[in-house]
Amino acid sequence: VPTDRISVEIPGAHYDVYVRRGLLQQAAALLRSLSSSPRAAVITDSNVAALHLHTLVASLSAVSVEAIAITLPAGESHKELATLRPAYDALLAARIDRNTPVLTLGGGVVGDMGGFLAATLLRGLPLIPIPTTLLAMVDASFGGKTGVNHREGKNLIGAFHQPLAVLADPELLKTLPAAEIQNGLAECIKHEMIRDADGFADLEANVERALRLDLDYLTPLVAHNVGIKARIVAADPFERGERAHLNFGHTFGHAIEKASAYSLSHGQSVALGLVAASTAATTMGLLDRVSRGRVVDLIRRAGLPAGGLEPSTDEILDAMGIDKKTLNGKIRFVLPDRIGNVVVRDDVPTPVIRDAIDQLRG
Ligand SMILES: NC(=O)c1ccc[n+]([C@@H]2O[C@H](COP(=O)([O-])OP(=O)(O)OC[C@H]3O[C@@H](n4cnc5c(N)ncnc54)[C@H](O)[C@@H]3O)[C@@H](O)[C@H]2O)c1
Ligand SMILES: [Zn+2]
Repeated sequence: VPTDRISVEIPGAHYDVYVRRGLLQQAAALLRSLSSSPRAAVITDSNVAALHLHTLVASLSAVSVEAIAITLPAGESHKELATLRPAYDALLAARIDRNTPVLTLGGGVVGDMGGFLAATLLRGLPLIPIPTTLLAMVDASFGGKTGVNHREGKNLIGAFHQPLAVLADPELLKTLPAAEIQNGLAECIKHEMIRDADGFADLEANVERALRLDLDYLTPLVAHNVGIKARIVAADPFERGERAHLNFGHTFGHAIEKASAYSLSHGQSVALGLVAASTAATTMGLLDRVSRGRVVDLIRRAGLPAGGLEPSTDEILDAMGIDKKTLNGKIRFVLPDRIGNVVVRDDVPTPVIRDAIDQLRG
């Protein structure tokens, strides 16, 4: 069985992200080495519960760990405090204690919500994410950011809470709808663009293998992407500096996601955001046109949108919090200056931002 273990070294929290096929069946054995609690809370969503919850519960009961399973409604539109209320109630009613680990079995929505619950319940419970989407494996399941949305915007209520370990089993990707593999590829393209020109070229050569769920390709792709984010998070756990690079495509992306009323997924919104940031970078004279073209091509080949945007440019500028009357909203943008490198700029003129969004309508 191919094994990979990437360590995330943050002051006060060293943990491993395991990337291994078949890991879900062995989850309890790993849990046993991390926790002696006779019980574990398992937070999942309605889709994942039907597919994979039984495997985890069986694995836990084989080592006499009782699972307290809580199934949340699936989808970004439920990523709000109100959805978590019954979960707090149920876990407190079950008399969990400070040692009861919280296992989040699901994509980034379950991971962010269950992670926030783990960060806040009894002032903090041990957290073990078991990501089930490509996006959650390469991005959302580690790094410590947890939270829920507010009608004012994405992830506005949240906490930093680092996991005890992360268990990524690429076999789980086999049940994932094609659109969700595409969403995960958006974050992979982001990672390669900010740090790894060779990785970007590798994705250009192999993106079809990812789309057809070739696990011999996806497994090392997950490990490689975990490695990129792990190094950035270790260097800057609280986002005082270079961790901001991981927001590449997200200033535009989060605004697009919100302006679309979440009819566009996070991955689709990020893809559009990567294109908009690349367009702005080209206008600013940072990125050459050929490189921008490669970004657009790869996004399209990954099945992601590079155009066809519906919300108006004004709605998106509003969602970004940009005062449209000022020439420069002083918003910080992460812009590529070549494939494999980004810079942070707060001097992007509002007309350049407006034009980059307008071009997403093509
Ligand atoms: N905390 C972070 O650092 C971080 C980073 C990136 C993204 N995020 C957040 O992650 C969220 C997006 O995550 P996502 O794209 O995983 O969305 P998601 O959690 O909504 O999952 C997508 C869909 O796939 C289903 N699903 C999950 N695993 C499955 C499987 N193995 N088989 C079949 N169906 C499955 C889910 O039920 C859902 O319908 C956003 O809310 C975003 O803000 C957080
Ligand atoms: Zn993202």
